[in-house]
Amino acid sequence: MKSKSGVARYWRQYKWSNIFAMMKNNRADPDICDEDFSGRLMVITGGTSGIGYYTCREYAAHGARILSINRNREKSEQLCEELRRDFGTDCDYRIADFSRLEDAKKVGRELADMKEGIDVLIHNAGVYLTHKTLIPEGLEMTFVVNYLSSFVMNYIMKDKLKAQKRARVIMVNSEGHRFAAWGLRLDDLNWQKKRYTGLGAYGSAKMAQLLSMLILDKHLRGSFVTINAMHPGAVKTGTGKENGRFYNRFKSAIIDKMSRSPEISAQALYYLGVSNSIEGISGKFFNLTREEIPAPPALDMEAAERLWKESLRMGGLEDGEI
Ligand SMILES: NC(=O)c1ccc[n+]([C@@H]2O[C@H](COP(=O)([O-])OP(=O)(O)OC[C@H]3O[C@@H](n4cnc5c(N)ncnc54)[C@H](OP(=O)(O)O)[C@@H]3O)[C@@H](O)[C@H]2O)c1
Repeated sequence: MKSKSGVARYWRQYKWSNIFAMMKNNRADPDICDEDFSGRLMVITGGTSGIGYYTCREYAAHGARILSINRNREKSEQLCEELRRDFGTDCDYRIADFSRLEDAKKVGRELADMKEGIDVLIHNAGVYLTHKTLIPEGLEMTFVVNYLSSFVMNYIMKDKLKAQKRARVIMVNSEGHRFAAWGLRLDDLNWQKKRYTGLGAYGSAKMAQLLSMLILDKHLRGSFVTINAMHPGAVKTGTGKENGRFYNRFKSAIIDKMSRSPEISAQALYYLGVSNSIEGISGKFFNLTREEIPAPPALDMEAAERLWKESLRMGGLEDGEI
């Protein structure tokens, strides 16, 4: 249900010019970066399918070493074999299921303890679920996979990243954050009071990720680490495959026909991770490679601070100062 206070709080901040800019950006191609990235390390979640897979190939084609955090061992082996064979590049993987907070914590700690620097960290793993699904801890899965696990990793890794000379963190977000048009129900992040919808849950998780970026960006200021979020285009991937036959028929008959190739998402993620032209830019939302103003609730610092505290509690993390 729409929160009345959310409507009252945000509706005056909506501007037609921002909506038109988004529509224009949705038709644009990404800017291309041809800079070399030989020997540099790109870490990505969900590199085994769709956007993540093409992004691994794009970075490997420019000489980068790849560390992919995936849930499936067989697909991970296959990914690394392909990258070594096609590009002669180093590829390694870790296994983590991001619907399990313990896995997100474990892999976050492993990455935080790594001696070598991470040049680019891409939070890409995500799901779209038409039916409410709970993880064993009782938390809603879309929220955990799309937001809370990346929050937990960033929180655990922030000091390691800050101690590095430079790093870029990129979160694969979505224009779908606009489904949470009137903001997050911070008293019901787990969908116990309001009726669950797939679009609502997806939009809220992506909105939460944008809000957490505001706080992380504040924390990272003064260091050589940037954090940005991006919409990867509406592209044809396996997203939604968990939703059964009816949804998947609808997707292949309608959505996929209107979708572009995930290669554009990979090109955009390479540009955002490597291009000199965005050096130092942080805390921004991009539609592919164009900077864009997100929906008004995504810029609400007060909501971001409340969400931050709630995320620490839900993630079972110590309430550190930030
Ligand atoms: N496709 C679009 O048009 C679109 C638009 C906007 C935003 N996005 C965002 O783009 C990102 C990538 O999605 P995609 O379109 O490439 O979909 P996809 O083809 O389904 O890929 C999703 C990736 O996430 C991994 N993943 C899913 N659940 C996981 C879990 N519990 N633990 C670990 N890994 C998990 C998948 O692993 P498996 O290979 O094992 O399945 C896969 O590698 C998502 O964040 C999505 O929200 C996509």
